[in-house]
Parts: sequence; C-alpha cells; structure tokens
Amino acid sequence: MTQLLFKHINVEGLANIDVYEKHGGYETLKKALEQKPEEILETVKASGLRGRGGAGFPTGLKWSFLAKDVFPRYLVCNADESEPGTCKDRELLLKNPHLLIEGMILCAYACRVEIGYNYIRGEFYDLCEIFEKALEEAYERGYLGKNILRSEFNLDIHTHLGAGAYICGEESALLNSLEGMRGEPRLKPPFPAVEGLYGKPTVVNNVETLCAVVPVVEGGAEAYAALGTEKSKGTKLVSVSGHVRNPGNFEVVLGTPTSEIIEMAGGMREGRKLKAFIPGGSSVPMLPAGKVDTPYDYESLQAAGSMLGSGALIVMDDSANVVKETLRIASFYMHESCGKCTPCREGTRWLHQILGEIESGRGKDENIELLQDISDNMSFKCFCPLGDAAIAPVLSGIANFREDYEELLSQAKAGAAAE
Ligand SMILES: Cc1cc2nc3c(=O)[nH]c(=O)nc-3n(C[C@H](O)[C@H](O)[C@H](O)COP(=O)(O)O)c2cc1C
Ligand code: SF4
Repeated sequence: MTQLLFKHINVEGLANIDVYEKHGGYETLKKALEQKPEEILETVKASGLRGRGGAGFPTGLKWSFLAKDVFPRYLVCNADESEPGTCKDRELLLKNPHLLIEGMILCAYACRVEIGYNYIRGEFYDLCEIFEKALEEAYERGYLGKNILRSEFNLDIHTHLGAGAYICGEESALLNSLEGMRGEPRLKPPFPAVEGLYGKPTVVNNVETLCAVVPVVEGGAEAYAALGTEKSKGTKLVSVSGHVRNPGNFEVVLGTPTSEIIEMAGGMREGRKLKAFIPGGSSVPMLPAGKVDTPYDYESLQAAGSMLGSGALIVMDDSANVVKETLRIASFYMHESCGKCTPCREGTRWLHQILGEIESGRGKDENIELLQDISDNMSFKCFCPLGDAAIAPVLSGIANFREDYEELLSQAKAGAAAE
C-alpha cells in the first residue's frame, strides 16, 4: 500500500520535532534549499499534484499565477476543514503538524513568500495549540525565521483561529476573515494569486495539498506522477463515514475503485446493503450503489455524475432514507449560508422548509417539482459555489432516489385521506 502522507502517521509522538526528524523530517527542506525556487516550482508543476481542498486545481500552476515581482506576497494555509464528512486535515494537524510546516516552507520558498498564515477552524482550538508548539520547535531548530538553515531565505508563519463559519473555508471569505472583516466571499476575478491578502499576491492551499508537497519534492515529480491515473496523480486522503464498520481516514492511490475504499473501512454493516454514497463531501451529488466501482479519481467521479470534492466518502446503507439525509444536509447549508446573495440566502431556507414538510409527512405531490424549480433558480445564480453545493444533494437525490420522495408523499396522501 503506497503511503506518502500517512507513512508515519501512527508513530507515537510524531508531533514532536525529534521524532519527526528521526523519521526523515526536514531532510527534504535541506535538499530543496540547494535548488533554486523555480526548480521546486517546476517539480510541483510536473508532478501533477492538484489541490486537495475541493476544486482540484493544479497546484504548481496556481503558484505560477502569482503576480510577477509584486511583494510582499503571502501564503495562506486553509485549515478551515468544515465540509461535512471531511476530517483528514484534522488528522494531519493532530498527528503530523511538522509535515504541514515543512510543506508550507517548501511552498513559500518556491513562491518567494516570506510571510505565511495558517487559518485554522475555530473548533480546532486544541489543534491550534499543537500547531503553535510545532512552530516554536521549528523556529528553535532554524527551519523558520531569518536566514533559514543559513540561506538567504526568511519565513515567518502565524496562526489564526476562525470563528466557526463554514463559508470561511472559501478562500476569499477566508482572506476577509483573516483581515478582520466579515467572512463573506469576494468577487473573483481578481483571484488571490493576483490580489489576495491585504491586496497582495497570495497562494491559498489546503492542508493536505501543502503536506503532499513534501513527498513530491522528496521523491521527485516523476515518481509522484507515476502514481494514479493520467490526470489524477498521486495519493488522496479519503475520510470514510456513515454506515461502514470502521470509519476513518484512508490514504489511497487515485484511481482505486470506490468499492475497495469502502472495504478498507470495514465494509458494510452486518446484513446491510449499500444504497447510496456521496464521494466528495456534502457539496457533491450522491450516487446510487450501482456506481460503487467507479475509480476514485477526479475524472471518473465526474463522468459518473459526481465529484471528488474534499475526499469525504459518505456511505449510506439500505436503512437510510434519502429525504431524511438530504434534509440534514439542507439544514447545514441553510445555517451556513452567509446571506450575502438572495438566491442562496432564500433558496437554502426554502429547500430546508419543503424537505422538512415532505419528511414529516406533510408533503404534497407538487413539492418535488418545487424543489427542482428552487434549485434551478439557485443554479449558477449565486455569488459563490456554496449555493450550487446546497442544491447538489437535492437534485441528485431526486434523480437517483425519487422513490424515497414518492413513498413519503403517498404516505402523506393516505394520512390526509384518513383524516
Ligand atoms: C463554501 C466553500 C467552503 C470551502 N471550504 C474549504 C475548506 O474547509 N478547506 C479547504 O481547503 N478548501 C475549502 N474550500 C475551497 C477553497 O476555496 C480553495 O479552493 C482551497 O482552499 C484551495 O486550496 P487547494 O488548491 O490546495 O485545494 C471551500 C470552498 C467553498 C466554496
Ligand atoms: S452563495 Fe451563499 S454563501 Fe455564497 S455569497 Fe451567496 S449567500 Fe453567501
């Protein structure tokens, strides 16, 4: 089994710098400093590494978009991990904070950045303490600060705790929040690489992406690109949750069949059959059991009608009712809509209300069409992708599991007739 990020994850005390160094920690940084920043950038580009935060944008390409010769420029690590079902960044922060620090240093070196921030979700207060202790250790050993390892390269990393808003995981809302403003998305373009934090060029990358930079630079672009499929390279951390026997985070080579990942998580519960799965967190369409052999990579999941998203595989067995599950997700989006734009602010509330009526046996036949109509009025009409995320489970649920809706509606009709 190829393990790059999780290779030493269960080594006791790995969060301590001595243990991290004993397992080869910071060796990649030492070698990288012997190369020019452009060479590191080229390695990351050639590796095919794509962002692990959700959109899957090529990492090296993103770095190369930084506005030329504009300084200061910033690196922001997105540790806001709030997508329902996703808990992989949490495990990295908890058990291997130095891997993230080393990845951030490599990124900063390649991008000529001297100031970095780690934006950590508010609920990760304990992880923030672990990260700050690791930062202290890295400063003491000369991996951070002025003239890192006696080179000309300087880097300071600061931490910032969020206040628990899902929307602050969206990169431009995150930057607003970091600047002390209300966490609402900014209009794009300009993208952060051109005008980001404090109006300066900024790289925003997910925790897992930055951690993956270490094995990419360590083993070289070719070795990394040899893993995975033609366009989905390397390994991916998958958070498996729901009706499996052994939920948790698993590192898989991209292209592994989804069914195999479910088996890694212990398979289905005794006597139960798979009904549905959401491959990439609550923001992506759910798929029926018949598609469970889809290779777990960006292209295959898209061809199957969903997305890899943040890598959260949510498994539902035949005891699940899709309307009920969708209602839970709708409640999340209604709560987390930042309220800046009307289609999302109103739409998420209406979706929740109608789903609630159907689920509680007060639905009407026309409700299905109404859900589709509201979704249509949100689709591509919201200010940021949260609006489209909110309709994904609704539309895919109706398309693939209409019978769950119809069953509840006919029960409602029978109940009304009996009154
Ligand atoms: C509503 C919303 C929430 C998001 N939440 C996160 C998050 O918690 N963590 C994350 O890394 N990216 C999140 N993203 C994606 C970020 O906007 C951004 O694309 C990502 O941090 C870029 O990093 P990457 O290129 O390494 O994936 C979110 C996007 C949206 C629209
Ligand atoms: S789509 Fe939703 S979360 Fe995004 S800006 Fe509009 S109201 Fe805010």
